Amino acid sequence: MSRARIASTLVAATVAAALLSGCERPPPDVVQSGFRGTGMEQVYNPRRLEKVIAANEVPPALDPVDPGGPKAGQVYQNVKVLGDLGVGEFTRLMVAMTNWVAPKEGPEAACVYCHNPANLADDSKYTKIVARSMIQMTRKINGDWKAHVANTGVTCYTCHRGQPVPQNVWFKPVPLTHDVKGMLGDRAGQNSPATSVALASLPYDPFGPYLSDAKPIRVIGKDALPNGNRASTKQAEFTYGLMMHMSDALGVNCTYCHNTRSMAEWDGSPPQRATAWYGIRMARSMNNEYMEPLTATFPAHRKGPLGDVAKINCATCHQGAYKPLFGAQMAKDHPELGGVRPGSAAAAPAAPVAVPAAATAPTSATTPSMGPATVFFAVGSSAVDADGGKVVGDLAATLKANPGAKVSISGFHSASGNLAQNQELAKSRAFAVRDGLIAAGIAADRIVLEKPMQTEANISGEDRLARRVDVAIR
Ligand code: HEC
Ligand code: HEC
Ligand code: HEC
Ligand code: HEC
Repeated sequence: MSRARIASTLVAATVAAALLSGCERPPPDVVQSGFRGTGMEQVYNPRRLEKVIAANEVPPALDPVDPGGPKAGQVYQNVKVLGDLGVGEFTRLMVAMTNWVAPKEGPEAACVYCHNPANLADDSKYTKIVARSMIQMTRKINGDWKAHVANTGVTCYTCHRGQPVPQNVWFKPVPLTHDVKGMLGDRAGQNSPATSVALASLPYDPFGPYLSDAKPIRVIGKDALPNGNRASTKQAEFTYGLMMHMSDALGVNCTYCHNTRSMAEWDGSPPQRATAWYGIRMARSMNNEYMEPLTATFPAHRKGPLGDVAKINCATCHQGAYKPLFGAQMAKDHPELGGVRPGSAAAAPAAPVAVPAAATAPTSATTPSMGPATVFFAVGSSAVDADGGKVVGDLAATLKANPGAKVSISGFHSASGNLAQNQELAKSRAFAVRDGLIAAGIAADRIVLEKPMQTEANISGEDRLARRVDVAIR
């Protein structure tokens, strides 16, 4: 072989190797998850899976300690949240928190990351103030969002993984405008492939509208056009952006939660979709109730380009796994964070919050009483919050226990603001409650939307009692 030919063969081989290395080897595994012919299957790449598994390993639990003894609230000076813990349990949690979130080396390593070593009661470090809220947030997730986290629950490690700042957080992005100002206007974040939407050319901020605000996640209008169908193409694109994020964050395909027969219909969707429905509400409520209020506490270098605080999305906990840490139950070793010990009284499913469609109906002994129920809403919002979620969960349980019963749902609004917009809002609130019931496994034909006799609020100004949805059981 001449030199020139050897060289050109080498070049060809190198080019081929370079091209091939772009392909994914070994071939991906395909696992069928629904009826044949519906395309309901999960595609796994074994090499990617290996990486995700390595990233989701769980640190060993600390040895349990005697929960008795004097209370931390009596022994220490400035304990505002953990006062009820025995001193042993309190110290064990401090050590666990240090392992889970504090830097491992450097001047800020270990306890001094949150504490002034000269005085542990001192609140001068922002990290300590943040940590106090984080303890409350973790308890709230484990206690009030069982519809999503079940008894698996979360600890600080679920998000932090040994780092002060969780790997996956989001900020409000700087709005992108066209290079040429004027006619073309706002690009709505499009045509700039972003990792937030798994590199699709979809609007790159699917988080602000859905995980801070409560914009409707809709592609298909519920009414024909003349009745004010507001589901626009742009809305569809934002919805798909969120869906790309959710799939990417969990390492699953769309069909993990949807039946290809109809993406919108709840009947026939896998039960995971109902879990995801609560996940969206949970992430939104964590961002609004815990992260936003910490904005002033965080130093500037921890904030986003628009000065907002880092916020939570699905990837913050899931990190590529269908369940965070592949379902490892770390929280059970930390009842002080709201984790549930197996075999304890609390481990029995308490109020059946979100009973997926396939779950059995509660027995008559646990049948909640029948009666009208009310879900309240925040100003301008149609988002069902944690308290509302409980009401919806109880209603779903009642309906399951009484298969003959139906509900009628009516939405209301307070008097302040624009009437036409308020009436839309009242309608969205009714839809939100209906969707919650359907997500919890109630057939759509058992739910009747009823326009209230009097749609205009009868009380003036902002009134909490007016921002509501009434549900009557028949
Ligand atoms: C991630 C932040 C964080 C780390 C790391 C941390 N702590 Fe704390 N610590 C707190 C918070 C928050 C409180 C207040 C709890 C409350 O208000 O209920 C606290 C309170 C205390 C108190 C009570 C002080 C008093 O008199 O009020 C002691 C003692 C303490 N921590 C010890 C430790 C030790 C020892 C370590 C290292 C092993 C440690 N902490 C690591 C956040 C942290
Ligand atoms: C659901 C996810 C989640 C859980 C659970 C969670 N955190 Fe956080 N944490 C965050 C996010 C998001 C931030 C903001 C990131 C930043 O600091 O920029 C944060 C920030 C912090 C900070 C400030 C970090 C810094 O250096 O600026 C501390 C301290 C902290 N968390 C402690 C805790 C402790 C202690 C727990 C458990 C009791 C906990 N977190 C549980 C999501 C979480
Ligand atoms: C982890 C579960 C999950 C995954 C994965 C997922 N979705 Fe969704 N999807 C949902 C939930 C939950 C809703 C309803 C959200 C709501 O109403 O708050 C929804 C709503 C939708 C809607 C709106 C239907 C309507 O009512 O108009 C479309 C369309 C959609 N998804 C498409 C997709 C596509 C395409 C993918 C893959 C890129 C995908 N989804 C991946 C859970 C999921
Ligand atoms: C605070 C942490 C946290 C956040 C944030 C979070 N999840 Fe989860 N998620 C969990 C935990 C823990 C489980 C496991 C529950 C269990 O064991 O049944 C879970 C389970 C799920 C499941 C059920 C998986 C299965 O196969 O049963 C789906 C689907 C899901 N999450 C979707 C989402 C989506 C979509 C988002 C974002 C909108 C989200 N999650 C945000 C913690 C979280």
